[in-house]
Amino acid sequence: MKEYNITVLKGDGIGPEIVDEAIKVLNRAGEKFGFKFNYNYQLLGGCAIDATGVPYPQETADACKASQAVLLGAVGGPKWDDQPGSNRPEKGLLAIREDLGLFANLRPAKIFAPLKSASPIKEEIIGDGLDILIVRELTGGIYFGDRGTYEENGVVGAYDTERYTYPEIKRIVKAGFEYAMKREKRLTCVDKANVLDSSRLWRKVMEETAVDYPEVEVSYMYVDNCAMQLVRNPNQFDTIVTSNIFGDILSDEASMISGSIGMLASASLAEGTFGLYEPIHGSAPDIAGQGKANPLATILSGAMMLRYTFGEAEAADAIEKAVDTALTLVRTPDIFEDGFAHVTTSQMGDKVAELL
Ligand code: NAI
Ligand code: MG
Repeated sequence: MKEYNITVLKGDGIGPEIVDEAIKVLNRAGEKFGFKFNYNYQLLGGCAIDATGVPYPQETADACKASQAVLLGAVGGPKWDDQPGSNRPEKGLLAIREDLGLFANLRPAKIFAPLKSASPIKEEIIGDGLDILIVRELTGGIYFGDRGTYEENGVVGAYDTERYTYPEIKRIVKAGFEYAMKREKRLTCVDKANVLDSSRLWRKVMEETAVDYPEVEVSYMYVDNCAMQLVRNPNQFDTIVTSNIFGDILSDEASMISGSIGMLASASLAEGTFGLYEPIHGSAPDIAGQGKANPLATILSGAMMLRYTFGEAEAADAIEKAVDTALTLVRTPDIFEDGFAHVTTSQMGDKVAELL
């Protein structure tokens, strides 16, 4: 039987509760589709500070690097708010992303048909549901370019620089094509090529790379138009590839069209197939330990892991389908509506595993 090695970082707050449900569903997927997971449990965030004094211990780093993927819950909480800034749980997140070379951030914006009414977008625009993947460059661009403040002739100024090298663009664009190939094979490069030289280099790299992916339908869109189109007609998009700053803004916009924060998965990927998978929400200390957390974002992060790291598309599709069906039957408090059965975190995990 195929065996997959993953490091599990449950983290703080609701982290342990939601990760347990994702593991329940991953194990069920393995039984059904013929693979098995070996889990290495490690500490990250506040729990790591309590046990070792630092948010990203060496042992955690070593375990992550020795595995094929990482599943993360969430970190942080009021207990560690008075820690010095350099030793807070969130530092663990920045450190792990940098240490593992995670240069591509994948944020699906997905609306499951049973949750249509929770979206601020009109139901007739959503149709049978919505499924967009935003591939954001994560380690370059204006957030990392030359910056400064200055004074010239008595006038104060400040500047930041958008700067991308050919290899930086090449690897994220290639990732965009690879992920598009696993979806509907439509890739939109979002940029500002009418104004920015860096965007014109992105387009050149896109055109060159497209030759290697003849099956992918390529389009280009200016970022301001894209911001508008995401609300006007989001179903025109399949996969979007874009720079760090544009992806930051567009992925937050896209996440709001899907309704609840408890539904949104994400992945951060390195060269090759290694990836870190986590829900986009935080550790929700206000509801921790009460069985109220929605585990679906973490369960769907597990499905992304199967799709993007392990190439188990059929198993990933089956989990997403089970989630869709579960939503027609049961609801956690964050997505509760009359007419559905009210369930706890672990009952939601049970239902998805059962439907799977
Ligand atoms: P949050 O995402 O933890 O919570 C925001 C609101 O959404 C809360 O009302 C919470 O109860 C609710 N919520 C979040 N996830 C939910 C789920 N799965 N099911 C049902 N309801 C859910 O953001 P907040 O409150 O700003 O931060 C809390 C802590 O989490 C802080 O320490 C923050 O630094 C940390 N955090 C960690 C992140 C991570 O680990 N990636 C990301 C964001 C925040
Ligand atoms: Mg943001």
